[in-house]
Amino acid sequence: MQDIKEFHTFSVVCKAKNVIKITALEQLKEQWQQAKIEDNSILIVGQGSNLLFLDDFEGTIFLNRLVGITHTENEQYHYLHVEGGEIWHDLVKWSLENHIYGLENLALIPGCVGSAPIQNIGAYGVEFKDVCDYVDVMQLDSGEVFRLNCNECQFGYRESIFKHQYKDNYMIISVGLKLAKNWEPVLKYGSLAGFDKNTVTAQQIFDEVCSIRQTKLPDPNVFGNAGSFFKNPTVAKNIADELKNEYPDMPYFLQEDGSVKLAAGWLIEQCGLKGYQIGGAAVHQNQALVILNKENATSSDIVELAHHIRQSVAIKFDVYLQPEVRFIGKYGEVNAEATIS
Ligand code: FAD
Ligand code: EPU
Repeated sequence: MQDIKEFHTFSVVCKAKNVIKITALEQLKEQWQQAKIEDNSILIVGQGSNLLFLDDFEGTIFLNRLVGITHTENEQYHYLHVEGGEIWHDLVKWSLENHIYGLENLALIPGCVGSAPIQNIGAYGVEFKDVCDYVDVMQLDSGEVFRLNCNECQFGYRESIFKHQYKDNYMIISVGLKLAKNWEPVLKYGSLAGFDKNTVTAQQIFDEVCSIRQTKLPDPNVFGNAGSFFKNPTVAKNIADELKNEYPDMPYFLQEDGSVKLAAGWLIEQCGLKGYQIGGAAVHQNQALVILNKENATSSDIVELAHHIRQSVAIKFDVYLQPEVRFIGKYGEVNAEATIS
């Protein structure tokens, strides 16, 4: 068994039977066939920034290390074809250096480019779907590669077809991004709204996003974490309105379909849980939606704390939080919500 602490950002001590860096498609096909012959479980991992290993993994980890960026353009758009193992934040920086704009709001999100479509990464008013042209996927049993356009990916809030129909036996190998030359800044989020849309530069937005993130979100190199542990819950408007009557300060985001998104971090903070610790796992002081590996937390500490948070929020608000983080058991992914219920 091999130590895999360095391959995931929660830094929980755990092992896997084998770890293979995938750097070419031929190698991917061969390794997949070999693992199938040996009846070995396989887990595809980018940077491991949205994962909680509950146990040692009794199988092989495929690290996505397919790299390369190709740039083409026409009068209206820049087109980037990016291999899935590229680091997302490095791509954002590269695009700015090359005067290609539109990714700046998504600065500093950890992880690989090939993982970005899976939960349709989003921050500060922009989601992956807003810049996505297509996603290339390999069906691993047949080795066949096919392309889904942006609509076919069925993107939603932290949602896509890659969590459902194309979840098992598929690997995202590359993505296509389409970025308008006629760049328009996205200034919907909090402190970004202070910028003048006529004069602001993409670099200024990048700098501001990096600065907000560095104050709120913990650096995984200092304290292990996987970003927001829970998703922001969406509830029916009548339920949100009742809560808003009782708690007028509650953040309330009306959605296009008439439902309302609540801020899980606010709900958790209202339960008095900032800084709350079980074993080595703690609720982050600056952002209650983040669980920290503060002092050699075990996966059980993290699960127990997540259970306590979910119960506390349910008792106070009658809203049940669902994990955003993916839970991995001995042989593969397990149901995260059931694990903390
Ligand atoms: P991993 O954690 O390695 O994998 C995630 C899942 O995708 C796993 O189920 C894995 O098996 C599967 N997978 C990975 N690669 C492939 C592939 N090529 N093909 C098929 N399946 C694959 N997310 C946001 O949306 N917005 C944020 O603002 C944000 N901020 C964060 C801040 C911090 C400090 C941290 C630690 C995380 C944050 N996240 C955020 C979550 C995380 O960055 C994203 O989910 C990211 O896309 C995960 O990428 P990864 O390469 O680490 O994926
Ligand atoms: N809030 C609190 N207390 C807290 C945390 C938040 O009151 O401890 C309040 C804030 O004051 C604000 C609201 O909750 O009114 C929303 O907070 P914030 O803007 O910090 O964003 P978030 O909803 O907590 C989401 C994403 C982040 C993304 C940010 C910025 C989810 C689950 N999380 O967090 O994504 O970076 O918005 O757009 O949607 C991730 O997915 O891992 C992640 C970090």
